[in-house]
Amino acid sequence: MSAAPDLTRRTDYCGALRAGDVGRRVVLQGWVHRRRDLGALLFLDLRDREGLCQVVFNQERDPALHARAAELRSEYVVAIAGAAVRREAATVNAALATGEVEVVATQLEVLNTARTPPFPLTEEAAETVSEEARLKYRYLDLRHPGMQANLRLRHNVVNAIRRAFDAQGFLEVETPFLTRSTPEGARDYLVPSRVQPGTFYALPQSPQLFKQLLMIGGADRYFQIVRCFRDEDLRADRQPEFTQIDVEMSFPDQDELFGIVEGMLRDACAAAGREIALPFPRMSWEEAMAAYGSDKPDLRLPALTEVSGLLPEAARAQLRLAARLPLLLIRIPKVGELSRRERDELRPLAEGRPVRFFEDFGRIAKSFPEPAAAMRQAAGAEEGDLLALVGAAEGTGGEETPSDRRAALRSLQTHAGGLRLALGQRFAERHGRWAAGELRFLWVREFPMFDWDAAEGRWAASHHPFTSPRDEDVALLDSDPGAAKAKAYDVVLNGIELGSGSIRIHRAEVQSRIFALLGMGPEEAKARFGFFLEALQYGTPPHGGIALGLDRLVMLLAGAGSIREVIAFPKTARAADLMVDAPTPVSAAQLKDLGLRVPGM
Ligand code: AMO
Repeated sequence: MSAAPDLTRRTDYCGALRAGDVGRRVVLQGWVHRRRDLGALLFLDLRDREGLCQVVFNQERDPALHARAAELRSEYVVAIAGAAVRREAATVNAALATGEVEVVATQLEVLNTARTPPFPLTEEAAETVSEEARLKYRYLDLRHPGMQANLRLRHNVVNAIRRAFDAQGFLEVETPFLTRSTPEGARDYLVPSRVQPGTFYALPQSPQLFKQLLMIGGADRYFQIVRCFRDEDLRADRQPEFTQIDVEMSFPDQDELFGIVEGMLRDACAAAGREIALPFPRMSWEEAMAAYGSDKPDLRLPALTEVSGLLPEAARAQLRLAARLPLLLIRIPKVGELSRRERDELRPLAEGRPVRFFEDFGRIAKSFPEPAAAMRQAAGAEEGDLLALVGAAEGTGGEETPSDRRAALRSLQTHAGGLRLALGQRFAERHGRWAAGELRFLWVREFPMFDWDAAEGRWAASHHPFTSPRDEDVALLDSDPGAAKAKAYDVVLNGIELGSGSIRIHRAEVQSRIFALLGMGPEEAKARFGFFLEALQYGTPPHGGIALGLDRLVMLLAGAGSIREVIAFPKTARAADLMVDAPTPVSAAQLKDLGLRVPGM
């Protein structure tokens, strides 16, 4: 007989055993997932990163070993040796990848005991555990197969992305974390300097300026999988620190850049076992707003239909609709008949929205049968589709200035888009599109250069201040900045902004002009971005790029509802890490060292 196997040498992952392993002697190391004691037979589900495997202890064969196994508790860490055997046909577990085999144990070593976990780690219990508990004990939560699968998915996706960029001649270059403010529209996280008291570094909201400086430095094609930091309101798709797939290229051609990003996303999706069609559809921002009432259209639902021309003026007046703004028809397919209660629930969806919302298309059809039939036809409506009308209230849309008129139109479109999504959400189970796992990518281009910041009474950059206006819109910068469009684009997936980028300004004088338009005087521009304005003067090549949210991409590929599910150690909505308990106060000595004073300390 051969010597007993060495229990410190794992031969297989628990979750990797298959019928082909039958007859082998194996050594497994893992956690006790579940123990079932049937008297003479004791079954253990042993778990590791790869999954579960059934181990059997037979009292008749080895009473002492069986007795030791009976002492095991959930989450004990053990090593076992034994023979992989085929399960009897009646006991094959088709739900388990390892379900055709079990290991008959001949040796057992307890490598560590475990306290009773604060929540059970079984799949059945996973749904009932509070997120707070999950985050406080993240190291236990990570033991769930679902979390293990997400970590692996993220790894595979990142690998595919690195390979895709490498194949296109992009270099991964690291940029600093201890730096100065990069404006991306959020607040900065600041780090006090001890050596120069009273001064602060800012953690980068993005590597925007560094990647542009790399182009000035001749790097030509850069990418980085990089952590970014933003102090902003958090939600399901936002974390205070998150990861970007950051890209920049010199002498860019927008089509070429789109192609490179599409190829990278195809490979990333393939790493998740998903096939996507290229190229992605493209539309202008104006088209997206008109057709979907959103700058990040969810293509899984039909577009809005403009039906203004189909409703006679008298009818519009009767419905108290504005004459000058469009009337938009929402269609949600395959919803079927609504009950009275369901219909009543729809009206509040429009509450707080300054629009006229007709959720009961049947009533419109009763009052105006012919126009209603024409509208149904225009929208391509079929039996069972839910239709609803959205228009602007009487008295709006007659504004004096072009920018007021634009704002009124944008407001109507945005609310119609919001109602379209709300209805889609409400009936998701019926139309089934959102559950089907479809991945609908698209490009939205030609965003406005500026948004009017009413609170500050000035223009703000829609993307960021380094974005180039379209060549044909340069003249508008003086006459009508609100109408100027940018060489800016977003890549959108299922209604979520996945990435955002632009062709940059590469001439110092244009950059200075944009700073001025944003209300930044020459002194302020020099103080904040002097180094950059200077750099632009030393032969800056035309350049452009994009950054995509890695967390969002992996979230959508995992079918998860929040990026927290695909980040190993995420923070709560209050930007706290419940596990390590951060942020925390610091000692008076540390504050003194940094030259800081905190009120009350
Ligand atoms: P932007 O600010 O649009 O562009 O960011 C790019 C992408 O990063 C992701 N993202 C986030 N993900 C999680 N949590 C957050 N708080 C968060 N904020 C942003 C989104 C977003 O589309 N420098 C420019 C890019 C460029 O012009 O090249 C930038 O950072 O998916």
